[in-house]
Parts: sequence; C-alpha cells; structure tokens
Amino acid sequence: MLINLAILVSGRGSNMEAILAAIKSNQISAKVPVVISNNPEALALVKARQYGVHAVAIDHHGISREEHERRVLQELSLHKIDYVVLAGYMRLLTPAFLQEFRDPKGHYRVINIHPSLLPAFPGANAYEEAFDYGVRVSGVTIHLVDEAMDNGMILAQRSFPRYTDDTLEAFKSRGLQIEHELYPACLQQIAEQGISVLANKRLSDNKTVKL
Ligand code: GRF
Repeated sequence: MLINLAILVSGRGSNMEAILAAIKSNQISAKVPVVISNNPEALALVKARQYGVHAVAIDHHGISREEHERRVLQELSLHKIDYVVLAGYMRLLTPAFLQEFRDPKGHYRVINIHPSLLPAFPGANAYEEAFDYGVRVSGVTIHLVDEAMDNGMILAQRSFPRYTDDTLEAFKSRGLQIEHELYPACLQQIAEQGISVLANKRLSDNKTVKL
C-alpha cells in the first residue's frame, strides 16, 4: 500500500533525507506531501526542497504550545496523512495533538526514531549519555509515540557495539548509519503491514519486528 507520510524535523535532517532517498529509489511505498520544521533555519527544509518536497517552517517562538500545534495540524490537514514521522523533531507532542492520529486500535499513527536502546537513555542527548556511561553496546529504536517522552511500543531495534578505543564521533556515526538503514526499512514494513499488525506481532511474539 502507498502511504502518505508527513515528516517533522528540527535540524540537520539526515534521517529525513534517508527516507526521501529510499522513497526515490522505490524502497518505501510512500509519498511525503509535506515536511514541517519548528525551526525556520533547519537544514532539513533546504534538503527537503532539493527532493522537490513541500517544506514549511512553523516557528514555535512567541506562541503557545497549543497555538503551535494548531498551526501544525492546520498544515497537516491540507494533506491526506497516514503517518506522522518524527525525524529529529525536538518538541514533545501533546495528547490533544496525538488524538488527531489515533487509529481504531488505540495506537497513534505517529512514529519516532531514538538513538539508544530504549528504555535506556531517553532524552535529547542519548548518544552522549550512552557513551559517557561506558556502555559496551548501544542501539537505535523506532517506536510508536505516546504521551510520554521516548516511550511507546517498540517497532524495531538494532544494536551496535561501542569499542574501547571509540571516540564519541565514531560511536555516533556508527549509530547514525544504522538509523539511516532502520528507519526506511521500518517504514516499508508499515507500508506493507500497517502499525496494528506490527504491534500485534510484537504483543503475540513478545519480540520486536525482525528487520
Ligand atoms: C537523530 O540521532 C535521531 O535519532 C534523533 O535526533 C537525531 C536527528 O538527526 N531523534 P537528523 O536531523 O535526522 O540528522
């Protein structure tokens, strides 16, 4: 099935770019009618436009969280969006926003990528915190979004090693490479099966989806 994705970003946009490149090379059956950034300076906006994608800035400065979300929802309502894909979107979404994307099984059709093996190291500095902690193994998690930060049902996880002589930069770039493979692969599974099937699989198998 061809799915319509809205991608929300705040910065560099490398995950967004990996998704757009995978769509372009037919690895994901998806369209991206809109990319939205809360940061007007985000490099992601420039990159999205290079892919011919409609990319809009909706600045959150000087307005309430509710008003910002109202404006984002207004933009999203102009497109027929199946899933909201967070790709380095540095803002929490309120329950009122999430309700707009509730599916019949009670999941929200909102997906996030986080650069750790959740529930370890939630928050904005996961690579740094995992590295500083001295983990031997870290990873990348793709999960459904719920009301709590970096929470929600895990759709996919992949681990990667931290070597004894690693620098933070090497550790991060190893993780980022996995992010760029795992997010497109997971979105293609969602295009093929939907999130409810993936979620049910997880519940019945007590395993994450094999990717
Ligand atoms: C990624 O590490 C992602 O996992 C996290 O924020 C970072 C965004 O990077 N949520 P980019 O904007 O996709 O390059």
